[in-house]
Amino acid sequence: MRLAIGLVGLGLLAACDTGTEERNAVASTRTVQRPYQALPPGTIARGAAARQAALEPPGPEPTPQLLARGEERFRVFCSPCHGIGGRGDGRVVSRGFAPPPSYREERLRGLSPEQIVQVITHGKGRMFPYADRVLPEERWAIAHHVKRLQGLEENP
Ligand code: HEC
Repeated sequence: MRLAIGLVGLGLLAACDTGTEERNAVASTRTVQRPYQALPPGTIARGAAARQAALEPPGPEPTPQLLARGEERFRVFCSPCHGIGGRGDGRVVSRGFAPPPSYREERLRGLSPEQIVQVITHGKGRMFPYADRVLPEERWAIAHHVKRLQGLEENP
């Protein structure tokens, strides 16, 4: 019996923080506070330059593969409002959302693929941006698909 009590006592002692550990061996829950350091001029987020470069005109060649990808992405992201044929008659519109203009309107026929990429990236008026959902190359693919819907680009 005495032996058992002795062992428990020993265990408790061992569990105690003796306060003599090496500083680095103790896990600290304190936050490390560093003074504010301004970013060196010209600093850009990793990958931002590559993303920016991918948006520079003229963009990738509108190959059959790119156009097929554009059509597929257009159906996913744009057709709910713009309609499969780009006439501004998507499903969302039939539920009361303000209809977008038809891509066949004269002014929209004048948009370059680059300008359409800009609309996808930044949004326009009531249309919100799709930069966080559509990759730069896919934006070009969609833009060329829109030009094809307008009858202004041939099937390659
Ligand atoms: C939620 C509905 C909605 C979706 C989804 C949508 N659009 Fe739009 N889009 C609009 C509306 C509404 C306008 C008219 C904006 C305005 O002028 O206020 C518009 C306008 C446009 C225009 C004309 C811009 C101009 O210069 O007037 C283009 C081009 C366009 N959209 C392309 C796209 C593409 C490409 C996609 C898919 C990546 C897309 N939209 C997805 C609603 C949408």
